[in-house]
Amino acid sequence: MNSIKMLAIAVSATAMFSTAAFAAGDAAKGEKVFKKCAACHSIEEGKNKVGPSLHNVVGRACGSIADYKYSRGYQDACEKGFTTDEAFLDEYLKDPSSKISEIAQTKERSKMTFKLKNEQEIQDVIEYLKQN
Ligand code: HEC
Repeated sequence: MNSIKMLAIAVSATAMFSTAAFAAGDAAKGEKVFKKCAACHSIEEGKNKVGPSLHNVVGRACGSIADYKYSRGYQDACEKGFTTDEAFLDEYLKDPSSKISEIAQTKERSKMTFKLKNEQEIQDVIEYLKQN
């Protein structure tokens, strides 16, 4: 067997392994999950609703939408410093207020009252957000 073939097998084995281990998100399914968010969020840049625009949200600095008024709790958490990366979103979407008060170390709640409980839906919607 030549080394290119061996490399190809190694790479596909790794890809299969990580899919199984992390239940990778599916952006197309995530787009459907996003309907649950759309009452309060737009994916369009610059368009805020009850919640801030989620355009390009994955990996951006917390609270970075300048013309959106975040809650006291969210701002307190931001002062401690965090980015809305995948690890944050994974926990935040399950229970926004708990995550925010955990970071802020206060009893302040997040203004986001919605909780997404389904772990697979969380992975799918994060994948969708990554692409928008
Ligand atoms: C009932 C309205 C509502 C729903 C539904 C909702 N959100 Fe939110 N979301 C908010 C509000 C309000 C904020 C601002 C939080 C604050 O200031 O405490 C927010 C904040 C966020 C943030 C932080 C944004 C930033 O600029 O730092 C993310 C990320 C987020 N929501 C993702 C989602 C996703 C994904 C869904 C769907 C699974 C969702 N939200 C559903 C109201 C909502």
